[in-house]
Amino acid sequence: MINLESLEAEAKKIIPTGGFGYISGGSEDNWTLAMNGKAFQHRQIAPKALSDIEKPELDTKVFGIDLKTPVMMAPAAAQGLSHSKGETDTAKGIASVGGLMAQSTYSSTSIADTAAAAPDAPQFFQLYMSKDWDFNEHLLDEAKKANVKAIILTVDATVDGYRESDIINNFAFPLPMANLASYSDGDGKGKGIAEIYASAAQKIGPDDVRRIKEYSGLPVIVKGVQTPEDAIRAITAGAEGIYVSNHGGRQLNGGPASFDVLEDVAKAVNGRVPIIFDSGIRRGSDVFKALASGADLVAFARPVLYGLALGGAEGVQSVFEHIDHELEIIMQLAGTKTIADVKKTNLLNIKY
Ligand SMILES: Cc1cc2nc3c(=O)[nH]c(=O)nc-3n(C[C@H](O)[C@H](O)[C@H](O)COP(=O)(O)O)c2cc1C
Repeated sequence: MINLESLEAEAKKIIPTGGFGYISGGSEDNWTLAMNGKAFQHRQIAPKALSDIEKPELDTKVFGIDLKTPVMMAPAAAQGLSHSKGETDTAKGIASVGGLMAQSTYSSTSIADTAAAAPDAPQFFQLYMSKDWDFNEHLLDEAKKANVKAIILTVDATVDGYRESDIINNFAFPLPMANLASYSDGDGKGKGIAEIYASAAQKIGPDDVRRIKEYSGLPVIVKGVQTPEDAIRAITAGAEGIYVSNHGGRQLNGGPASFDVLEDVAKAVNGRVPIIFDSGIRRGSDVFKALASGADLVAFARPVLYGLALGGAEGVQSVFEHIDHELEIIMQLAGTKTIADVKKTNLLNIKY
């Protein structure tokens, strides 16, 4: 593996057109998707001379969980599109690097099966809130039974973004979504993305954060925050984590690159709860910059889905090992021995 960007072209050769378009695409003309990657150039990392350090350490503790890497798997639907083993192989690959996985509501494999694939590894469950509260309770019950450590409530996908590749490919999910199997509308197989989102709740507010937290007894992390105001609203509603994300440019096109809003959100959060960041992470230097801008954990999805397609659990493992390796190099050159040191670093803001 040379770098994570080049995995996309390799994965395109083996993932069927519809599935590849669904994974790789953004919304409208993909402007926000493109800016997600470019935004990391807006800040620079100062090299540190005579820093007197060696062997940087990537381990960290977030949400009370010990992790060997600050890079985690973002929730991503339908991983059976990448590999026949789907989320169970993703879970195994991540467990082998001591990382954290977030399971999606719309997974190809069930909450229980994905958890059982890596029984000693920490996992979160991401909830797409259904209009049917009984079904939400059912999903939360399953998540609790599987011993997940937190619920990620995604709030930036109350409708699906205008995703042109899915329209061009007339994409419908070719595989069932295991967690929907017990739902009266069916298991999602043969449905397009708009139909899937149609059974999800459009009207999500602060009371839903409270309700999910009370029902599950688990910490709730609100995903899809892009402004200081939203971060404060979520914390006031009881959120115990803020997840800064623009859904990988798949939802509100014309919104800012996720990295460009991270620092302001982090200032508003002011250390009250941990921050997860995603959208556009491809390099060790991107991870470093996100941590230095206020993130406690950094997530990504597409590179992991491509690694899964190309090599199953081992492919996932390689993707994490690669980005960890790049991060170690950056940490050494920036004179930062630990993740705590990275978080204390001031980035440069030179305009080119
Ligand atoms: C194929 C795919 C499926 C996704 N499914 C979900 C999902 O089910 N729930 C969710 O909250 N986010 C979902 N996301 C968004 C990711 O959690 C994450 O925010 C985004 O992919 C990060 O950008 P990156 O892929 O550039 O790293 C999905 C992303 C992709 C690419």
